[in-house]
Order: sequence, then structure tokens, then C-alpha cells
Amino acid sequence: MPKAKKPNIKTVAISTGGGDAPGLNTVIRAAVRKIKREQDWRILGIRESFEGLITGEGNVELTEENVKGILAKGGTVLGTSNRGNPFSYPSERGGKLVAVDLSGLVIQRMLDMKIDALLLIGGDGTMRIAHRFHELDCPVVGVPKTIDNDLLGTDRTFGFETAVDIVTWALDKLHSTAESHDRVMIVEVMGREAGWIALYAGIAGGADVILIPEIHFSFDHVAKKIHERRAKGRDFSIVVVAEGAKMKGDEDSTLVEEGDERFGMPRLGGIGYRVKEGIEQYVGLETRVVVLGHLQRGGSPNAFDRVLASRMGCAAVDLIAQGKFGHMACIEGDKITSVPIEKAISGSKLVNPDGEMVKVARALGISFGDE
Ligand code: F6P
Repeated sequence: MPKAKKPNIKTVAISTGGGDAPGLNTVIRAAVRKIKREQDWRILGIRESFEGLITGEGNVELTEENVKGILAKGGTVLGTSNRGNPFSYPSERGGKLVAVDLSGLVIQRMLDMKIDALLLIGGDGTMRIAHRFHELDCPVVGVPKTIDNDLLGTDRTFGFETAVDIVTWALDKLHSTAESHDRVMIVEVMGREAGWIALYAGIAGGADVILIPEIHFSFDHVAKKIHERRAKGRDFSIVVVAEGAKMKGDEDSTLVEEGDERFGMPRLGGIGYRVKEGIEQYVGLETRVVVLGHLQRGGSPNAFDRVLASRMGCAAVDLIAQGKFGHMACIEGDKITSVPIEKAISGSKLVNPDGEMVKVARALGISFGDE
């Protein structure tokens, strides 16, 4: 393989895209601190994903001074968006919302602003955009982020471990009420089409049933588990359901909002209430639903995510210095390395229904509602 040519960098831009996740600010801080110690690059923070490159407004120069105190701050100081893909940007034309390709404008702005490299921190949507810019010879590198942990090419994304902690905390709390009232408590968690959050938090929080998109469930099996527990004198049960979970025979997940390929992904949600109806019908026990929603993405990253995000931010700076554009920082085992962004967007990293984690859960007596 020919070695990437070391680029002559003067200005680097950093942008955060997609849903916020704990650790975004940690990456920004790490990248800025490393650059200021090891390089003489100017750093521009781009406002709200690509907005600042589309309008040219609201961007800020990042310095060690203005990234002070953001290590543990939730969200992103740059702002973000999961609805502003520059390749199909929603614009009003003649009273109608249409998709417009503004990628040329973004590239022109980068030239005008003398940006020599773009560091994009985001999930699969942002990495798809990054790859398209890379194909247009735009110097981009990626840092993977998502609480869903579903990005290929990296064993972990920062944000995931914090989300799992939050759900585990909630499960601990809900145990008391479930036990005191002899109720079934259903906790609906995020994760899109991947069951990672439900699986990890379900194991950590002592769930009795975990329903994930990768293993389709049926109510008789969920009911069987709850009845078995009652036969042993356990009159309450905790069910963790991933927002993308599907019943046997269902092709699609339950949606709150239809998606549109141009303007945004479908919004998943509501499966918790379908599971409640099923449990009440099949088991006849009082059942309550808690939808944790955006609580799972909010607030401070935990220690693991702070370390991972710091490592990723530093790795992305190295990628730029080495001219490894079109690559994304990643973690393999405990080693930080990089993969072509193309690989990261070639599919989704889903839970293996026959994998070790599912086997462990089953060995602990957890039901996936399938047997
Ligand atoms: O991808 C992160 C995520 O939190 C998913 O788990 C969830 O389905 C989605 O984003 C929610 O998006 P929004 O914030 O647009 O409602």
C-alpha cells in the first residue's frame, strides 16, 4: 500500500453530527489540546453539523481557552443536527419542501475558509456523508459516536457505556416499585435496529426478559417466563424492550414517525406499549411502561467514555497529520487504530443471536421471548 502523503495543514475544522451523545465535548477538547501541543494548526468549530459550512455563519475558532471545562459536559458545544444532510438538504421551493444537493456549496465554503481538513464526529449518518465528501476529494477524517453502538469497524462507540449506566440505574430503581406492587415493569430503551443497550443494561440491571430487534419475540414465550417466575413466588418481572424490537411475523419495528430517505430516518418508539397490552392480555398482571427516551443520551459521559472519547480525539488528529483521509478512528479490543470510513458504513453492527452475550443472558435465566 502506498503511504499517505503528509499534508500541509494550516486550518482544521471540527464538526459534530447526528444525535448528541455523552463524550462529544470530550473529543473536541482532546483534539484541540493535542493540536495546540503538537501542531501549529488553526482550529475552526463548525456550527450544528454542516449548518456552519452551508451558511458560513456561527463558526468559532477553538482554542485551549474556550474548550476549558467541557471534558464532562453533556451534549456538544458546537451544536448538532440529524436533519441537515448537505447532499439532500431540505429546502423550500415554490411552497414545497424539496431535497437540494448543497455539497458543492460546502466544498466552496471550505475553500473560502481555507479549511485543509475536516474532522467529523458522528454516527452512521454522518459517516455516510463523510464518505461522500471523501469521494469528492474532500480531506475528511471521522470519529465514531453513538449510544447505539451499532457502527461497524469499531468495537465501541463512546456514549454507549454511559447510556448503559443510565438504563442500569433506572432498572435498579424500578425493581423496588415492581417488587413492592407485584407489577410487571416494562422499560423501553433506545438503540434503533440494534439491541446493544437493551442487552447490556438488561444483564447489568437484572432484567427477566430482554426483547431485542435481532431476536423476534412472541407473547406466549414472554408470558411463559413471567408465569414461571410467579410459580417460584416472584410476583413481579422486569422487561427491557429495545425500541426496534419486533414480534415474530413482524417485518418492521414500531414507529412514532415515518422516515423519509431525504429528510430523516424513521423515529422508532411505542413498542413498550404494545408489549404492555400483550402482557396484560396473556398474563393478566398490572403492567407499567417507562420510556427512558433522551435521558439515555443526556448529561456527563462516564469515566470509560471520557477515556475512549479522549483517545479517539487524539487518534483523529494523528490521522489528519498522517494524511489518512477517508479514515475513521476506531477501537479494536483495547487498541486504538483506524478503518476506511467505507467499511464503517457497509452495514450495521448488530447483536449476534448465537453470540456469547446472548448465551450469558440465557444462562442467567433471562428470556428473549423466543423460546
Ligand atoms: O441514534 C441515537 C438515537 O438516540 C437512537 O437510539 C434513537 O432512535 C434516535 O437517536 C432518536 O433520535 P431523535 O433524537 O432524533 O429523536
